[in-house]
Amino acid sequence: MEKTLSIIKPDAVSKNLTGVINAKFEQAKLRIVAQKRLQLTTTQAEEFYEVHRERAFYSSLCEHMSSGPIVAQVLCGENAIAKNRDLMGATNPANADVGTLRREYGESIERNVVHGSDSPENAALEIGFFFSKLEIIE
Ligand code: CMP
Repeated sequence: MEKTLSIIKPDAVSKNLTGVINAKFEQAKLRIVAQKRLQLTTTQAEEFYEVHRERAFYSSLCEHMSSGPIVAQVLCGENAIAKNRDLMGATNPANADVGTLRREYGESIERNVVHGSDSPENAALEIGFFFSKLEIIE
């Protein structure tokens, strides 16, 4: 079993899509083994997205990610990282396959509904950013 970090972004939380998105995860046999609603400060968003610091979209991305509540969660299942990325679809909703979360609910590449870890190394780092071991109940 593999774990991955998922974030339901402010654009999706503000549209009350948390339950719809969680149902997609559960239908795909991903278990939500940790979940919390929180609002990042801009500094925390900058730390989380540190890898993108040099990119032109960095400050706008961090502003959006700290603009309202998010839901951070740990998903667990077989091939959870790849499975979650399939469910999310391409980063830009305009390029995402029909039926994916980003295609169905995304407004733009920035307001693209969800974030998901892209590798086992990043999943471990990103899970550790939001959750302690005690909060992950398999
Ligand atoms: P996410 O999976 O959260 O990882 C980094 C985020 O940066 C990505 O989703 C997008 O929301 C955002 N992003 C990536 N590329 C661009 C871009 N060209 N313009 C604006 N935002 C971007």
